[in-house]
Amino acid sequence: MIGTEIEKARELLLQNEVVAIPTETVYGLAGNALSAVAVSKIFEAKNRPYFDPLIVHISSVSEVSNYVEEIPELAFNLMEHFWPGPLTVLLQKKSCIPDLTTSGLNEVGIRIPNHVTTLELLKSLPFPLAAPSANPFGYISPTSAAHVEAQLGGKIPYILNGGNCSVGIESTVLRVQDNEIEILRLGGISVEDLQRFTSKILIQQHSSSSPAAPGMLTNHYAPRKPIYVGNIREMMHSFSSQKIGILSFKEDFQMESQRILSMKGSFTEAASNLFSYMRELDQMNIDVILAEFLPNENLGRAINDKLKRASAK
Ligand code: TXA
Ligand code: MG
Repeated sequence: MIGTEIEKARELLLQNEVVAIPTETVYGLAGNALSAVAVSKIFEAKNRPYFDPLIVHISSVSEVSNYVEEIPELAFNLMEHFWPGPLTVLLQKKSCIPDLTTSGLNEVGIRIPNHVTTLELLKSLPFPLAAPSANPFGYISPTSAAHVEAQLGGKIPYILNGGNCSVGIESTVLRVQDNEIEILRLGGISVEDLQRFTSKILIQQHSSSSPAAPGMLTNHYAPRKPIYVGNIREMMHSFSSQKIGILSFKEDFQMESQRILSMKGSFTEAASNLFSYMRELDQMNIDVILAEFLPNENLGRAINDKLKRASAK
């Protein structure tokens, strides 16, 4: 059921049920982060492997110390600057965070989402919310309540509708060490944004199975149709015997089954359209999706990362 009642979401969460919630990045599938019962329901509804840890959502920086041992100065500065916003910081967890929430890891990922509805919900609750993206494991992340309904509608009691997600791609996941930032997942806060805080930034390369940085699974965010990323015009020739769908950055290929991420070439607009356009193409009467990389800078880097994973075999 889709609705806009924060109170109803709150009641369900207090009873250890799971509820889909809006954030600025993607919709999350939320439950009490301090309850192993609620957290196990999240894994179950998503069909998510238990080795992939969940992000814990809070509503103010002052809460962080309830859940983590220590906050390094650089981490604190990043939180103060980017929260509420698409940044998840990994820190040594306190024991009140169940091992199930972090998949047995000693670190917990924490963020403050930038969405009025969800911030109000969080403030009304006596616990933080664990929430992975509200998609079945491996499929495209949802950026609207209707996306959640289409995939998980039958499995969860309530979807709190907060409109379309403004950022459209997931949070950047990082940890800090001394004066260095290690990025585990590229997302809504760009490398360029982070460079204002330190020049020492390492971007983790992803592994494809049993990842040390879990969730960085290669084959992720994938539509059901095969997607190829490269030079669209060249690929149109090689695939001329098939029904083609096109996902371009800004170029108009004059095709019926095409989606243009941003005609004006804006990275932020492209990010906000990415997942919904992938879904739309996935539902068209086509055989393959042909896509292209964006310039590898700012949010283009995160978008390219999603395209790479979606096209991984
Ligand atoms: O924007 C977002 O981050 C959204 C919204 C709902 O907040 N959430 C999200 O969650 O994308 P999820 O579970 O789909 O992706 C979280 C990523 C996973 O790849 C996970 O492995 C990583 O963060 N992560 C979470 N906690 C971690 C930890 N303790 N250590 C390493 N990686 C962690
Ligand atoms: Mg996800």
